[in-house]
Amino acid sequence: MTNLTFPKNFIWGTATSSYQIEGAWNEDGKGESIWDRFSHTPEKIKDGSNGDVACDHYHRYQEDVDLMKSLGMHAYRFSIAWARIFPDGRGEVNQAGLDFYDNLVDALLRAGIRPFATLYHWDLPQALQDEGGWENRAIVDAFAEYVDVVSKRLGDRVKDWITHNEPWVAAHIGNAWGVHAPGKTDYRSAFRVAHHLLLSHGAAVPIIRKNSADSQVGITLNLTVADPADPENPADWDAARQMDGFMNRWFLDPLYGRHYPADMVASFEKEYPDSINFIEEGDLEIIAAPTDFLGVNYYTRAVVRATEGVMPEQVKVETSDYTDMDWEIHPVSLTELLNRLSYDYRPRKIYITENGASYAIAPNEEGRVEDVKRLEFLRGHFNAAHRAIQDGVPLAGYFVWSFMDNFEWGEGYKERFGITWVDFETQERIPKDSALWYSKVIDANGPIDS
Ligand code: FCB
Repeated sequence: MTNLTFPKNFIWGTATSSYQIEGAWNEDGKGESIWDRFSHTPEKIKDGSNGDVACDHYHRYQEDVDLMKSLGMHAYRFSIAWARIFPDGRGEVNQAGLDFYDNLVDALLRAGIRPFATLYHWDLPQALQDEGGWENRAIVDAFAEYVDVVSKRLGDRVKDWITHNEPWVAAHIGNAWGVHAPGKTDYRSAFRVAHHLLLSHGAAVPIIRKNSADSQVGITLNLTVADPADPENPADWDAARQMDGFMNRWFLDPLYGRHYPADMVASFEKEYPDSINFIEEGDLEIIAAPTDFLGVNYYTRAVVRATEGVMPEQVKVETSDYTDMDWEIHPVSLTELLNRLSYDYRPRKIYITENGASYAIAPNEEGRVEDVKRLEFLRGHFNAAHRAIQDGVPLAGYFVWSFMDNFEWGEGYKERFGITWVDFETQERIPKDSALWYSKVIDANGPIDS
């Protein structure tokens, strides 16, 4: 096969998030977040771990930036911990928290790495959760206050902003499934949370534009392709439509000015009467604030079967390969997803803000991490992305999840998504074979033979 070349100026990078890597959970005035509370609660995290230390990135950020530079990264997507800036969620600003991100951004710029800042990657200040968190509409003003302070301080240097990471996960896995913080199990709460996340996104966009001249603003969604388990069965096709509505259209439609999807509103109202009662006059206009790009996190597709209830059931495909997370490897769906997003919603630009694979492949005797499986996973998805570009999709960059192994939420440290190995005892970092290969891909501006 010949090597593929990506468009000139295509951005290659990696991504992380604050709670997953920083550690220093209670240092320099940081307040408690819902993830501190959740992970300190027995039985919530599979391996009983927490993010108290994680990758100790808070103290080692310079070393991490140096490694990124040595690998030739163009960009780095990180998130800001709200509770470092506002320990109580609003009101008094903690300057030391702002200083940390200020220093990180300067280190990145010195290294020639473009910072992409995510404002909310799930670590809500616990003080706000105590007031109802994202269920309480008052949070929209608190988020606006936080965004104003951060974008004023960093906006002269950070020019790429992501308001939220995966509101579907924050809303549903955190509030309906109870598997993420804050650990609630109520679909009604989850829909309310999702609405306020979207509303706060819309409220944040003009604030960022005001404080950060010539910046680009977007939101990151976890998106998937829903396929029927049995293509001969019309009920499974309907289940696929429902899954698409639940995970994709529920967020994309209002963001692109189409209101919530009518089929989904009807089915949720049937299952949970009067649950969609949080929309106020003008909300949909705020949510539909024009953005500059759509961030897409893609890991796997959803193959679904019809059930009695409103939620389809996901099934495993016997003939497919799966990663350690038990996520099906399906790069073709990435091409399909990008095309669909491009034609249905017409985003000005798309970034893949996360894509990667969990494999717990450890260093061998020579200390080398031969993660061929991850390398092949990435190659397949780079090729799929290239195909979408050929189809006319305005894909402008690709962020591999993750720069390094880290705290994988409810899974703890067992799942390793990094292209860099982290020894959590010694905090040693070892670039895996996938990282060394990725470095060459960046050089060549496209996937190369390994
Ligand atoms: C995404 C999250 C990210 C990471 C990957 C594996 O849902 O945004 O923080 O956990 O999954």
